[in-house]
Amino acid sequence: MIRREFLARTLSVAVASLFARNVSAQHSMHDMHGMSDMDDMPGMSSSHSSHANQHAAQGTPKLAPETAIPSGAPLAALRTLRNESSEPGVFRATLVAQPVRRQLMPGHPTALWLYGDAAQGPIVGPLIDVREGDTVEIRFVNHLPQPSTIHWHGLPVPPDQDGNPMNPVAPGETHVYRFTLPPGSAGTYWYHPHPHMMSAEQVFRGLAGPIVVRAADDPLAAFPERHLFFTDLKLASDASVAPNDMMDWMNGREGQFVLVNGARRPRIDVAQDERWRLWNGGNARYLRLSLGGNRTFTQVGTDGGLLDKPRDGLTELLLAPGERAEIVVRAGAQASTAVLTAAAYDRRKMTMTEGKSLPADPAKPLADVRFTPSSTAAARTVPPTLRPIAPLLSSTDSAADKAPRKSVVFSEEMDMTAMHRPGATMSALPPGMQFMINGARFDSSRIALTSRRGEVEVWSIENRTDMDHPFHLHGTQFQVIRRERGGVAVPEPYLAWRDTVNVQPGETVRIATVQRDAGERMFHCHILEHEDLGMMATLKVV
Ligand code: C2O
Ligand code: CU
Ligand code: CU
Repeated sequence: MIRREFLARTLSVAVASLFARNVSAQHSMHDMHGMSDMDDMPGMSSSHSSHANQHAAQGTPKLAPETAIPSGAPLAALRTLRNESSEPGVFRATLVAQPVRRQLMPGHPTALWLYGDAAQGPIVGPLIDVREGDTVEIRFVNHLPQPSTIHWHGLPVPPDQDGNPMNPVAPGETHVYRFTLPPGSAGTYWYHPHPHMMSAEQVFRGLAGPIVVRAADDPLAAFPERHLFFTDLKLASDASVAPNDMMDWMNGREGQFVLVNGARRPRIDVAQDERWRLWNGGNARYLRLSLGGNRTFTQVGTDGGLLDKPRDGLTELLLAPGERAEIVVRAGAQASTAVLTAAAYDRRKMTMTEGKSLPADPAKPLADVRFTPSSTAAARTVPPTLRPIAPLLSSTDSAADKAPRKSVVFSEEMDMTAMHRPGATMSALPPGMQFMINGARFDSSRIALTSRRGEVEVWSIENRTDMDHPFHLHGTQFQVIRRERGGVAVPEPYLAWRDTVNVQPGETVRIATVQRDAGERMFHCHILEHEDLGMMATLKVV
């Protein structure tokens, strides 16, 4: 814990120095966030030297240039977690979380934390490829210097198997997670650590991996499948994983690198129509995905599997942190190229000045796609109905009015006084930066909400802060009913199963949800820095 206290202390010094100098926030904060030069020595007069000083105070190192990791290699297939069982219907495997050194920047090894030794292959946790009905038994070995857990993001696993922060696995310990995947659970999920106040760090050091649950009767089984697991990496110029700075804590950490299956800007060759599964495994980065121009694709799935009907003709798709999607990408009629891009998305990142936000980050290329349609490729069609999805609640009948209601309110408080007080913060993360749910920070001994198992409820999630926050609820898939903002209510235009939904500032998102198992479930903002800072709460299911 000593390191953590040190971090809190240096952050508080940084915050204090920020206010002491009353920097012109909008400009210098923006520089500070993406800043990669530290040549100026700290000074007291100009705003430029004052932000250099903030950096010095925080000990934020000089960052590596955006081109430091080579690009252009063919997209690597994910590693696959080996099933150690030969029994039908049983998937048994071992996941070791451990420090690993890998060379990402030529000549400079980076110390990462990874699942498996990853001596070769993508620096992403191995793919857990399983089927509905399987019993999954994963032996987790914690070789990290910190307690950890494995959380099965989105899967309907029993609460005591879900890697909650209340059930840490100590360094050196082993823990077996066991669950059975129910019918209807086919979809695109992921796993990542969920220890109290250390999730952000463990994920940004490399701990996250994909899960695919397959259905016996998958209407898109004939499509060749491609996996794109997006992660975010922030490296110092010496190739070490940079620590979080104050802006990372406030807005969620974004690195200078967005990796696809662990590589920067890989090349994807598409010779026939393909089904892509997409994961946003970054701490905080929003991915407004596009193939450029008016090139269209078809969305066929969300977090919890296939939609009822495909959504054709999309030119972009927003994946908030933690979200997944399935799309069908067409090879087209003739050879062409495209750049898979994270287009600019304004999530209203904050500055230290009230009411001011940073401009949206510029678009970022993620992968180069080369379409070389093969004349021999089998023609495949996406059926007009993918699978039936029954609405949990129909908004027209009285069920919706009778359903129990729950309210979740996101709020934030930037306490200037606390931020000024150096040393006032020996026990926690940055002082004075409060991200709350229903007016409180996470407290593992407090139950925020209670639900009955099997009872469909309507939750309204209201964002009373100045920035976007992705809401995530454990243990189930929910349906978005409608979104309200500025007095305008928009019913959700399609049926889908989700476990994560973005909520914009001033917006209220209404969902229908039901829990099947008794026990404690977490719900939180999936910007992992916010989760660690306390934007999380416990739902008790009775
Ligand atoms: Cu992916 Cu509680 O998180
Ligand atoms: Cu989760
Ligand atoms: Cu948040």
